[in-house]
Amino acid sequence: MTKRVAILISGGGSNMVSLVNSMTGDHPARPVLVLSNDPNAGGLAKARALNVPTFAIDHKPFGKDRAAFEAALQKALETAKPDIICLAGFMRILTPEFTRMWEGRMLNIHPSLLPKYKGLHTHARALEAGDTEHGCSVHEVTAELDGGPILGQAKIAVSADDTAETLAARLLPLEHQLYPQVLQRYAAGDRTPLMING
Ligand code: GRF
Repeated sequence: MTKRVAILISGGGSNMVSLVNSMTGDHPARPVLVLSNDPNAGGLAKARALNVPTFAIDHKPFGKDRAAFEAALQKALETAKPDIICLAGFMRILTPEFTRMWEGRMLNIHPSLLPKYKGLHTHARALEAGDTEHGCSVHEVTAELDGGPILGQAKIAVSADDTAETLAARLLPLEHQLYPQVLQRYAAGDRTPLMING
């Protein structure tokens, strides 16, 4: 049975594009929805150009009422009926209640070698710490922010003249390799961690 995948984005959606482009041929999954919490997210137009249905729920009118925003999100997801949700540059922190509803069916990509540098500004923090290697991780989403089981990682060496911007730019193409490979395995029921060296 082909798995239905919903992809949640907040920005440009480059990871979303790599996921959608990978789901062809004998891939066990197909994209059924790209949803954003920002109606102006650049990734929505990219998804439409790839003929994937899109939907936007502006989180701003909900203010601090995360439960109300997530109720609207859940309603949109129930319409699309995904088997798997991929968070791809989705910048809203989801409540434990919401993550528990989708536990074991929701993935996220994070630009650090988890469990190091959960949260934001991962590239700057790796440089500040003098790390010699950096990377990105795909993990299952649980109630603990960036804390779920790791399903894949990709590593790059940090060079002396790296900045947060150059690190981010060198890491993004690896994210675009790692996430589709992990999704293909996950949709086929394979949760063994994958390692890629950049
Ligand atoms: C990526 O670096 C991802 O790891 C992080 O946000 C960035 C999103 O990029 N969570 P894009 O929107 O997929 O281009």
